Amino acid sequence: MSESLLNKSSASMTSTDFDLPSWSRARQLRVEQALSAWVAPDVPAGLGEAMRYAVLDGGKRLRPLLVLAASEAVAPLDAATLRAGLDEAALRAGLDEAALRAACAVELIHAYSLVHDDMPCMDNDVLRRGKPTVHVQFGEARALLAGDALQALAFELLTPDDDAVSPTVQAQLCRLLARAAGSAGMAGGQAIDLASVGVKLSEPQLREMHRLKTGALLQGSVMMGAACGAPSAAALQALSTYGAAIGLAFQVVDDILDVTADSATLGKTAGKDAEQDKPTYVSLLGLARSQAYAQELLAQADDALKASGLHDTRALRALADMVVNRAN
Ligand code: IPE
Ligand code: IPE
Ligand code: MG
Ligand code: MG
Ligand code: MG
Repeated sequence: MSESLLNKSSASMTSTDFDLPSWSRARQLRVEQALSAWVAPDVPAGLGEAMRYAVLDGGKRLRPLLVLAASEAVAPLDAATLRAGLDEAALRAGLDEAALRAACAVELIHAYSLVHDDMPCMDNDVLRRGKPTVHVQFGEARALLAGDALQALAFELLTPDDDAVSPTVQAQLCRLLARAAGSAGMAGGQAIDLASVGVKLSEPQLREMHRLKTGALLQGSVMMGAACGAPSAAALQALSTYGAAIGLAFQVVDDILDVTADSATLGKTAGKDAEQDKPTYVSLLGLARSQAYAQELLAQADDALKASGLHDTRALRALADMVVNRAN
């Protein structure tokens, strides 16, 4: 393809006429198959059953999609162009092994965080992804262990013992995921969440809690996808800004949906935040200002993509839109 043609297609690739459902479908299918193969049932004493129950057949798979979208955005131009011309089977076969492993690993951490978040010692929820929560189905001890085992499995996936993923990329992926999941990320944010019941947080405090408990793993997903390629420093910075904006927006919208949506739509109990006296964006700013803030964060994410210098950010743009304008 000539340089001028590439530039022309590059300009059009920033437009919003992008078919996210069909882009997502093939990738979700691949992630689903990989998770089903990697989260094996033959684990002792029913632990495997609880792990599969927590992970399979549910969820939007947003974090895996972010990993894959970021990895494709930083893929070499000719590979990306080539991919656009391939049929679905070839696309699936060609999906980069590191990105697929990263996509599944981040979903395992997310699934584990949900299992623990729902336990009686945390949010005490009985409904998740339209099913009884793991501790309701299997008991608290098995839910605790299923979460632990899913977390360990995530890191096992990132460190295959063949040469499928280079040692440098393996180490980068492990570090990014550990940071996003641990005390500087999700677990730290969840600790703040539990310590904040009945407390009126300031906006900066609430923002920090949301950035950690939820934002870190979404931003981490984007950065893990980026680590599967070789982005410029400017592109990496832009992706980090994008990830931070949509990561925070995701929890702002989660707070909004807890008030505006019903349990059937959400697949989890609506109205829990007010019932449990949790500080949320809705309790702090009200509904209208929270919705406006989510749109502002979407604009920030958009601006970051425009400044990234990346050739094709349509999937990332569409996913940001989905984060902010979703119904569940
Ligand atoms: C729910 O995440 C937990 C939060 C971080 C708010 P999702 O809304 O992505 O849950 P699933 O994966 O679709 O079930
Ligand atoms: C929890 O936030 C985010 C996690 C790290 C699991 P919420 O407690 O608001 O998530 P939901 O509403 O139960 O999904
Ligand atoms: Mg919670
Ligand atoms: Mg919860
Ligand atoms: Mg919530």
